[in-house]
Amino acid sequence: MRISYRAHGGALDYWQRRWDGVAVDSGEINLNRYPGLYAERTINATRPDGPVLEAGCGAGRVLRHYHERGVPIIGMDFIASVLAAIKGEDPGIPLTAGDITKLPFPDESFSAVLAFGLYHGLENHLEDAMADTRRILKPGGLLCASMRLDNLQNRVTDNMAEGAMAEGPRRFHKLNLTSGEFKTLVGDAGFEVLNVNYVENMSFLYKYSILRHASQRVFQESAARGAGYRFNLAGNALQRLAMTMMPAQMANLAVITARAV
Ligand SMILES: C[S@@+](CC[C@H](N)C(=O)[O-])C[C@H]1O[C@@H](n2cnc3c(N)ncnc32)[C@H](O)[C@@H]1O
Repeated sequence: MRISYRAHGGALDYWQRRWDGVAVDSGEINLNRYPGLYAERTINATRPDGPVLEAGCGAGRVLRHYHERGVPIIGMDFIASVLAAIKGEDPGIPLTAGDITKLPFPDESFSAVLAFGLYHGLENHLEDAMADTRRILKPGGLLCASMRLDNLQNRVTDNMAEGAMAEGPRRFHKLNLTSGEFKTLVGDAGFEVLNVNYVENMSFLYKYSILRHASQRVFQESAARGAGYRFNLAGNALQRLAMTMMPAQMANLAVITARAV
């Protein structure tokens, strides 16, 4: 396990500032890319015997997509203001403020948990968070979760970030796990791991605007998060080559799907 550091005031401060500057997402997500692709597979494989939880729902792109399609889904996040902003757009959407390390739900109350970009933000209590996720799932329920990988992609990204940061104190930013460490974490909490996928979210190559799609040359976070981070022809060729040759090293994330046993 490796830890990434940044010049911010810690996890809560980072997410508060991040969501303060971003509009609520629409429910328009790309189902061919992370996270839509994995959310869709999980929702399609979920038994309809309980609601779905999106843990760490953020600005609501996944949550709103499934809520608008009639899936019984509840959003949870520890940033109350982003939940209030979602409620402002859609007063009927079920939302709960809470922390993944101590979930405010009874045992065995969900048939699936979606958790994209959540667990690697935990400075402490990662194992407790995974155990609590298992606790609220019905036996046979599904977990679909992503984890920042300990690999070349994220080491380069962290080095670029370090180079761009002003002098001053650094605080915990993200955990980075190898896919083996991630599998062990999930397995030890009482899950059977069904599959692991190496996923590109935002490659460090995307940071070079010359490699970005014309529609995303000027970076607009909400649009890019909905449509996916898109390259132009040259960017695509480079990223495809790198992913084909070294998927475990060039992916940003591992996505695990696992069944509660
Ligand atoms: C990478 S964002 C992902 C948002 C959303 N799942 C998506 O894919 O668009 C991670 C989210 O987890 C939330 N989060 C981080 N730590 C948390 C914690 N300990 N408990 C609950 N939510 C947390 C953050 O506020 C943020 O909204």
